[in-house]
Amino acid sequence: MIFTILTLFPNLFSSPLQESIIKRAVEKGLIEFNILNIRDFAVDIHRTCDDSPYGGGPGMVMKIEPISRTMEYVEHSAGRRPKFVLLTPQGRLFDQGTAERLARNPHLCLICGRYEGVDERVLTLVDEEISIGDYVLSGGEVPALVLIDAISRHVPGVLGNEQSSIDESFKEHLLEYPQYTRPDVFEDMEVPSVLLSGNHEEIRRWRRREAIKKTILKRPDLMERFVPAREDQGIIKKVMEELSE
Ligand code: ADE
Repeated sequence: MIFTILTLFPNLFSSPLQESIIKRAVEKGLIEFNILNIRDFAVDIHRTCDDSPYGGGPGMVMKIEPISRTMEYVEHSAGRRPKFVLLTPQGRLFDQGTAERLARNPHLCLICGRYEGVDERVLTLVDEEISIGDYVLSGGEVPALVLIDAISRHVPGVLGNEQSSIDESFKEHLLEYPQYTRPDVFEDMEVPSVLLSGNHEEIRRWRRREAIKKTILKRPDLMERFVPAREDQGIIKKVMEELSE
């Protein structure tokens, strides 16, 4: 899968894409990054990419021509139109389902807005607008990295089987069960004894119950989208009883 990133701050991408899972995926040839500086496509000798807003008001607005020219270059050099996604706080909220859907595109072009916004006409050039949450960041670069991380995990071969199944549980709209590692006692805190029992069926049931309990307590909004299996219905009933005691 190819990610092309359009930005005014290409340096922001240098180290995050050269570590860990992403680094290995690039080495294996599973994902590829092209990072383009929008400023290289500006039309005037000062390479201007922003200007004051028509109608007045504070701040600067990113100009349409350099963005449009960079997009044309991307499409022309790829020989095919990629999916163009603009990162903006006004976009649709990004979630696990969107990550999975976007991972099915062979070529994604992420456009990072900056300053107080981009010329509204840029919206007519892109296929989607995505926000990573209801807060304003200084630009679309960190959101683009968030998308890249979450999407890459769905590209076949990027994760081992174990890691993929952890992601699967989130798709169910459940939080992950609690995890522990050595030592079995830290200060006065003990690892639940069931995890040391070696009884795999009991461990499986305990984990399911704890995942449901954690979700009810910490993210009740996720429970609304959770579709319980028969076993889960009993667990939910018991957990609710326990919590009301
Ligand atoms: N640009 C600035 N803030 C953003 C956000 N929350 N999501 C996506 N792009 C942004």
